[in-house]
Amino acid sequence: MTSAGRLPPLALLYGTRPQVIKASVLVEALAAEWDVLSVDTGQHYDYELNALLYSQLGVRTPRACLDVGSGEHAVQTAHVLTRAAEVLSAAAAAGARPRAAVVVGDTNSTLGAALAAAKLRIPVVHVEAGLRCGDLLMAEEINRRAVDAVSAVLCPPSASSEATLRREHAAGAVVRTGDVARDVLLRTLPRVRPAAEGDGWPLPPAAPFVFATLHRAELVDDPARLAGTLAALGGLGLPVVLAAHPRTRAALAAAGAEPPAGVHVVPPLGYFETLAAVRDAAAVVTDSGGVQREAYWLGTPCVTVRGETEWVETVALGANRLVAPVAAPDALAGAVAAQLAAGAGGWDRDALGYGDAAERVRRALAPLR
Ligand code: UD1
Repeated sequence: MTSAGRLPPLALLYGTRPQVIKASVLVEALAAEWDVLSVDTGQHYDYELNALLYSQLGVRTPRACLDVGSGEHAVQTAHVLTRAAEVLSAAAAAGARPRAAVVVGDTNSTLGAALAAAKLRIPVVHVEAGLRCGDLLMAEEINRRAVDAVSAVLCPPSASSEATLRREHAAGAVVRTGDVARDVLLRTLPRVRPAAEGDGWPLPPAAPFVFATLHRAELVDDPARLAGTLAALGGLGLPVVLAAHPRTRAALAAAGAEPPAGVHVVPPLGYFETLAAVRDAAAVVTDSGGVQREAYWLGTPCVTVRGETEWVETVALGANRLVAPVAAPDALAGAVAAQLAAGAGGWDRDALGYGDAAERVRRALAPLR
């Protein structure tokens, strides 16, 4: 019997780019006390969104991969639900029924995995609980509310997300842990090279730039919003490096849209290269929750192309400014100019925890052993 075989079993399920990144610290922290059954749903399968991150961050090979791939929301979520249930049931049949199932974030993988565990009466632990944007038309808002509703342990990353759970009278135990994304960032940063040294960097060394990422369905699947945002990026007065998610590249190709002069579209970057770009940029323009927080921690002014954010602390501290996509063409340049004028990095960087969140999640699970 291996030493892991004497530890109580625990499932950790994840499947998109940001979740693989967070799994890197969660697997390590949890494996000190648990025999971790790690499961990759396969929601993201492109090299840059999956395998590259495993190798850069040294994430342990998952014990199971569900190969769900892309699809309509109902189909993708249902595949995660049924296949995760099979893996969890098989573990139980083999005498290793997980004492809990840990899920992260708000994706279709998070929802499907949480439902699979809850239906099998395996307690669900939700990392990144309590985040809300108030827009129930957004898939992620549906997912996070539904996952919080079935969770036995909820780990909010911030004071505001903890307050939300208390206001909603969450049924499970609420333990604020801070944000595991900060753990990964802090441990990785010393190994991050200058952005301009990355393969395929489109600008001369030392050229100032704005770093941009856009991938939300609400923005990239609306041709007028995407075209307006691209046009606005072309008018910022600085070159823009736009790292395009596969969804964004597909939308650009479908629209036959050529990026304006000065906007350099590059493939999705690895984790190291993304941190380098965020750190070295004069400003960041994004609709990603992860990039908003990385800009906040790295001291780079950010503009978020959404009407709302779950990371309200970054806005309150002046690190982040919101521009609704519908207003992007006119307002984006003004918001970037205002953020540049306000200057970089003077804000308190500890509003989302201290970089020890994975350890705090491990401690929050002690009652389930
Ligand atoms: C998903 C999450 C979003 C998260 C994001 C991180 C949901 C509802 N959304 O959005 O919250 O911020 O991941 O990146 O779960 N595709 C590929 N290769 C891949 C993955 C996707 O080409 O490896 C393409 C497919 O055409 C697919 C589309 O991207 O239909 C969207 O992928 P999907 O996983 O459905 O959602 P994301 O937009 O990535």
